[in-house]
Amino acid sequence: MNRPRVTLSFAQTLDGRVAAVDGSSQWISGSESLRFCHSVRAAHDAIMVGIGTVLRDDPRLTVRLVDGRNPLRVIVDSTLRTPPTAAVIRDGAARGTVIACTDAAPTKRCEALRACGATVLSFPATPDGRVDLAALLVALGECGIASVMVEGGARLLTSLLRARLADAVAITIAPLILGAGPAAIGDLGITALGQAIKVRNATWTTYGADVVVEGQIEY
Ligand SMILES: NC(=O)c1ccc[n+]([C@@H]2O[C@H](COP(=O)([O-])OP(=O)(O)OC[C@H]3O[C@@H](n4cnc5c(N)ncnc54)[C@H](OP(=O)(O)O)[C@@H]3O)[C@@H](O)[C@H]2O)c1
Repeated sequence: MNRPRVTLSFAQTLDGRVAAVDGSSQWISGSESLRFCHSVRAAHDAIMVGIGTVLRDDPRLTVRLVDGRNPLRVIVDSTLRTPPTAAVIRDGAARGTVIACTDAAPTKRCEALRACGATVLSFPATPDGRVDLAALLVALGECGIASVMVEGGARLLTSLLRARLADAVAITIAPLILGAGPAAIGDLGITALGQAIKVRNATWTTYGADVVVEGQIEY
């Protein structure tokens, strides 16, 4: 089955955190690398985040800091917790937003989001009740989406790597140390160094005080 190419693109501290203990992550990266992030958005057909990120950060997921078109927004949200007041829904944004849920999503929430103009698609659930990401990516591919940028959060990034659905990375590393807070990538079931997922053809580019590492994932 054809699926889009998936690039994981997020900002982390030197010690691998994507947020502080209180959940705040805006802004780990500086203004130069934020502009880079918007150029990555503009270069992709779709941009994907988990519902945890929508509820914590209320991102717009648009291209603003560079010229370029807005990618389709995709929210992974099993039970449709996305509020109709979220930035990805309000002020007409819903027309460019797909919300991926499972059968566990209440009909009323589905109707409310569709009434705002959002596209709500239901997918099979994983054993832990979450959206089957492989099925979601195949469906996006069938809609003509060839590339997806995934900005986070940690749970979604980890699920994609666990399922071997991520193809590339564009990771911003900021010269900050938090010591605690969610790690960018959680447990992948890897117990020995030899099992590590490799990033091939890695390039390192400086944007202000930050470094962006780009490369291809090899499992
Ligand atoms: N530094 C950065 O670049 C960056 C970027 C984005 C976010 N963040 C930070 O990350 C934090 C949010 O991350 P998070 O890990 O809590 O949330 P998340 O990854 O944004 O969303 C996770 C949620 O998505 C839903 N989901 C549905 N299907 C899933 C699947 N197959 N795999 C994984 N998740 C699935 C689940 O909620 P349901 O069970 O309700 O569906 C899950 O709890 C915030 O603090 C935010 O600021 C940082």
